[in-house]
Amino acid sequence: MPGGTLTRLKQRLALLFASPAERRHARVGPAHLWKMKRAFQIEYLRRTGLEPGQRLLDLGCGTLRGGLPLIEFLDAGHYTGIDVRAEVLDEARRELVEAGLAHKAPVLLFATDLGALELAPRFDVIWAFSVLIHMDDAALERALAFVARHLAPEGAFHANARLPDVDGGERRDLRWEGFPVVTRSLEFYRLAGARHGLVLRDLGPLAGLGHVSGDPEQDGQHMLTWQSWQTGVNRAPAGASGARAG
Ligand SMILES: C[S@@+](CC[C@H](N)C(=O)[O-])C[C@H]1O[C@@H](n2cnc3c(N)ncnc32)[C@H](O)[C@@H]1O
Repeated sequence: MPGGTLTRLKQRLALLFASPAERRHARVGPAHLWKMKRAFQIEYLRRTGLEPGQRLLDLGCGTLRGGLPLIEFLDAGHYTGIDVRAEVLDEARRELVEAGLAHKAPVLLFATDLGALELAPRFDVIWAFSVLIHMDDAALERALAFVARHLAPEGAFHANARLPDVDGGERRDLRWEGFPVVTRSLEFYRLAGARHGLVLRDLGPLAGLGHVSGDPEQDGQHMLTWQSWQTGVNRAPAGASGARAG
């Protein structure tokens, strides 16, 4: 039996014994890792300077695995989550209500085409955790154009990416929940951002930023950040020591 099929079978079997939370967040990743991935997201964003009064857009927010603590932390109305799957957003709404955080009035939007989406606010932080890796090149292009249109002048876009292995071996591209699982070079991301006036920085592997899953493929993904070129390309986001220019 091929490795991928065996892994999926094991994951389905594990879900039979999963808690309701694990089952919900299994819609966006491995069930047993949801708590670590939730904690990682808010810790990373707070370390890089997120403040309650800022506006954050969570692109590909899924079930609010990462979004819920951000909604709690930010001022009411300052969180916007977008996802392309309506049924997963329904789970997000249930997650919000069950946590008693509906009064924080996040905006949760179903959007199938970021190219056609225009939102009124400009965001201080745009966050896409484990999302760009599930976009084909055309979707990535639309996402970066959307980000460029919606970033506040001093804002930053943060997203993780699968890069080719350092030993030069290309990773095999796979599929997950009907989405591609994409590996791209840093240069590809640098040029893609530059087409929209965004300057890339590579903050290195997630493992060095506190993401400890035990899976080298996941921990080895890199955190990338982009800012508008007008913002000052030499300034790293606060708390992101060891940043390398892409
Ligand atoms: C691996 S999940 C991560 C969810 C969330 N960011 C988290 O870490 O908890 C990726 C999410 O991105 C969403 N997504 C993929 N392509 C998208 C697109 N073009 N626009 C909006 N959301 C997208 C998927 O539906 C999925 O919920």
